[in-house]
Amino acid sequence: MIVIENLAKHYGGGGAVGNAVEALAGIDLRVEAGEIFGIIGRSGAGKSTLVRCINLLERPSAGSVRVAGRELTALGDAELRAARRDIGMIFQHFNLLSSRTVFDNVALPLELAGVDEAEIEARVAPLLDLVGLAEQRARYPAQLSGGQKQRVGIARALANRPRVLLCDEATSALDPETTRSILSLLRDINRRLGLTVIVVTHEMQVIKDLCDRVAVLDRGRVVEQGSVFEVFTDPRHETTRALIRDVVGQELPAGLLERLAQPHLSTGGRLLRLVFTGAAADAPLISVLTRRFGLDLNILHGQIDEIQGRPFGSLLVLMEGVAERRDEAMAWLVEQSIRVEAVHVG
Ligand SMILES: Nc1ncnc2c1ncn2[C@@H]1O[C@H](COP(=O)(O)OP(=O)(O)OP(=O)(O)O)[C@@H](O)[C@H]1O
Ligand SMILES: [Mg+2]
Repeated sequence: MIVIENLAKHYGGGGAVGNAVEALAGIDLRVEAGEIFGIIGRSGAGKSTLVRCINLLERPSAGSVRVAGRELTALGDAELRAARRDIGMIFQHFNLLSSRTVFDNVALPLELAGVDEAEIEARVAPLLDLVGLAEQRARYPAQLSGGQKQRVGIARALANRPRVLLCDEATSALDPETTRSILSLLRDINRRLGLTVIVVTHEMQVIKDLCDRVAVLDRGRVVEQGSVFEVFTDPRHETTRALIRDVVGQELPAGLLERLAQPHLSTGGRLLRLVFTGAAADAPLISVLTRRFGLDLNILHGQIDEIQGRPFGSLLVLMEGVAERRDEAMAWLVEQSIRVEAVHVG
């Protein structure tokens, strides 16, 4: 559906490469029709630049952007305007017109496209139903909550019946509960309309709750991509790990870390993180380890979660016992498809 190849974007510099900001470099991405694709990264990573290159609000410095088989960078102005109707966009700060009612905000792209009044009524009313704002149609943006404003933004983005919806930090200005309701609306729209959705966010929770696949952007480059399950359960890049830590809460309390770092407590024990997925998540792991290998296991932190409907858990344990038996136990864990990571403290 969307194929991005070797995309680069520099800002400024006036030809003098030294002064230019290299916002994006060497980006390759494929987004399949009907999927929800997440783009995550820290502030300044280039997320907004990337998403704006997908509808050519920003012109790439190099590379190609194909949407539904059409090379956007090769289009003239009129063709590009037409191509953009296939791509809706929603924003962090909603970008509604304060002097227009809910209905008229949603109708605006249709007016601009020259759609007649009867047709506008016929198309806007069901969209307001879809986003749950039928009763607010005559209100003005100032009379709406943040979540309602974003619903207007979503309805407006859908007015031209796009095939792609771009969301740039669409929930970043909303509280957690409203965020969940907007994410569930986006998922609903994706399923019902078969729309391809690209979600830009700095919050891993949004990726976890909404997306099928994700790309991690760091300083203008894609450093990791894959299914959300893969990336969450087996992150490879340090940036990804750091972003996941925000959500998965693997940080130990400082006091505990301090105690573990003390030599007289840490000798003889190994601090391990066990990560288990699928069937292993249900196995009686700890009792097997203690019984079969005669080890003592002190569970310091544990959690179980579900990502894309699949169970995923992690345990932080202090494993104590005979060194040989510990090695056997670790080999056994690996055989059970449990990932074993040594954790270093101090
Ligand atoms: N119009 C511009 N002119 C010059 N530099 C820009 C412009 N827009 C963005 N940049 C720079 O490009 C880089 C990427 O910016 P971008 O807005 O894409 O990041 P982002 O990942 O969306 O960040 P945030 O999470 O804060 O929204 C930054 O270094 C930024 O300063
Ligand atoms: Mg941004």
